[in-house]
Amino acid sequence: MPGLIQQSPFRTITVRELHPTYAAEVTGVNFQDLSEEQFQEINAAMAKYGVCVFRNTGLDDTAHVKFSERFGDLDNIRRYLKGGRKPRYEHLELFDAGNIDGETNSILDPDSPKAHSNRGNGLFHSDSSFNPRRASFSLLRAVELPPRSTGGNTDFADSRTAFDELPEDLKAELLAHDYVGAHSMAHSRKLGSPEFFKDMEVDSTPMFRHRIVQLHEPSGRMNLYIGAHLHHIEENGKQIPGSWDLVQRLNQHATQKKYLAVVQWDSPGDLVIWDNRSVLHRAGAFQGGYRRDLRRTTVHDDSPTAWGLNEVSTAEWCAFNVNDAKEEMVKSPV
Ligand code: OGA
Ligand code: MN
Repeated sequence: MPGLIQQSPFRTITVRELHPTYAAEVTGVNFQDLSEEQFQEINAAMAKYGVCVFRNTGLDDTAHVKFSERFGDLDNIRRYLKGGRKPRYEHLELFDAGNIDGETNSILDPDSPKAHSNRGNGLFHSDSSFNPRRASFSLLRAVELPPRSTGGNTDFADSRTAFDELPEDLKAELLAHDYVGAHSMAHSRKLGSPEFFKDMEVDSTPMFRHRIVQLHEPSGRMNLYIGAHLHHIEENGKQIPGSWDLVQRLNQHATQKKYLAVVQWDSPGDLVIWDNRSVLHRAGAFQGGYRRDLRRTTVHDDSPTAWGLNEVSTAEWCAFNVNDAKEEMVKSPV
């Protein structure tokens, strides 16, 4: 019966859908020697699914960075290395998304500034939305994992379908206005750990601006570009009335259970790629006391909306540096 034949657009990879509207686990990838055809199929899968999970890739730090570079220019941590701070990894393109203290190689003290800062990652967000140039893909790889029963999944939310399914009045409002989101990393840090960061004056921290409703060019679908870094909404350079209510309403709408996909990490070498221009993500809750070492590369967006409403500049930009004293952050958040 011809009706039973599944048409797959892919020749070299196999895709298993993880959610009715997005996210997929991809098998058949030869990470040791990735052909251009296979790379293009991964790109096509990313455009459609927004999140792709690859098990047991065998990638080490160097191969992770090299593979990531095929997607575009990578962000790096140079701006965080003020005052002679030593990087944790040889590759400055690797961001530390885990809970290991780079100096002692033990689990971060839960009361350390970095641990408090990391709590903000438990809120749904889009990586680098607080930067003048936003990110396209994030590629997160497991190096060491806690026992499965203790949590530590990465959760996603489908912000394209969330746009499609906005209540009609709200969708009409968003389409009728040119709403611009002002994003701040300090804002999400404070939301993640309000008591620890209570003296930080977020309003006076630098913010960067990206439109709330955007076309996701690779898929031709619209997207809600929101998340925990979104501090307020402006139109014509002025904060709109009811801005915070709308920020919360949009974030709550887009992170309803029906839009969520949970990715469980199975083993070291697992890699998850997501497109920050079409999904939101967060670190799922996990029990303390277990090592969780995840490393991420972040690809600079190179689409026409990469820089949002911000000035295009090559200046080194540091949104937030938790290694500075708390008092320092208040005075000088960069
Ligand atoms: C990140 C991130 C989530 C996690 O690396 O950008 O938000 O589960 N990670 O660690
Ligand atoms: Mn993140």
